[in-house]
Amino acid sequence: MDRLLLLLLLLPLVTPLLTADGGVNAKEKLIHLRFYWHGILSGPNPTAETIARSPVTNASATLFGLMNVIDDPLTLGPDLSSRQIGRSQGIYVSVDQNVVGLLMVMNFVFMDGKYNGSTLAVMGHNQVFSSVREMPIVGGTMLFRLARGYVQARTYSFRPEIGDVVVEYNCYVLRCSDY
Ligand SMILES: *[C@@H]1O[C@H](CO)[C@@H](O)[C@H](O)[C@H]1NC(C)=O
Ligand SMILES: *[C@@H]1O[C@H](CO)[C@@H](O)[C@H](O)[C@H]1NC(C)=O
Repeated sequence: MDRLLLLLLLLPLVTPLLTADGGVNAKEKLIHLRFYWHGILSGPNPTAETIARSPVTNASATLFGLMNVIDDPLTLGPDLSSRQIGRSQGIYVSVDQNVVGLLMVMNFVFMDGKYNGSTLAVMGHNQVFSSVREMPIVGGTMLFRLARGYVQARTYSFRPEIGDVVVEYNCYVLRCSDY
């Protein structure tokens, strides 16, 4: 096939981005990352702690007004002892008066491999008892500069008596290959 024609056919597959100096040269690639997020509320070393509760609705069934701060380990496998690739640092707030629904604001801070030192920022709605929760990736740093995408969270295990939870996260990220 004619080379120019081939080039024209392939062109729409790469999304051009405007760079700071006005040039168009960056390419985006969809990548998939999967890891497990450990919310540990029990024991002497919790990774999630309650920092605020509403004095009015504290006892509500949806925990409306509860705010936790987290520094949750992210591991490659579902077991806490499997390879740790980063931490999820942020807060979540119970913001729904009818079902348990959280506003999640967190950074995935990667500490291993290629993405060591890079972060992804997630902000979204997490109705924790739904089987799949989707939240937007709103940006990132270093290798994830200008990133966007979404995550799908699925509860892997939950121990209601102590509150500990393991959640499988599948991240679909448009990553700019210039970084
Ligand atoms: C909220 O409820 C918890 C658990 O029932 C209780 O331990 C805590 O003291 C209450 N906090 C407030 C601010 O009412
Ligand atoms: C991640 O990067 C930090 C800072 O450069 C370095 O100290 C650390 O050893 C790296 N971790 C891994 C697992 O490569």
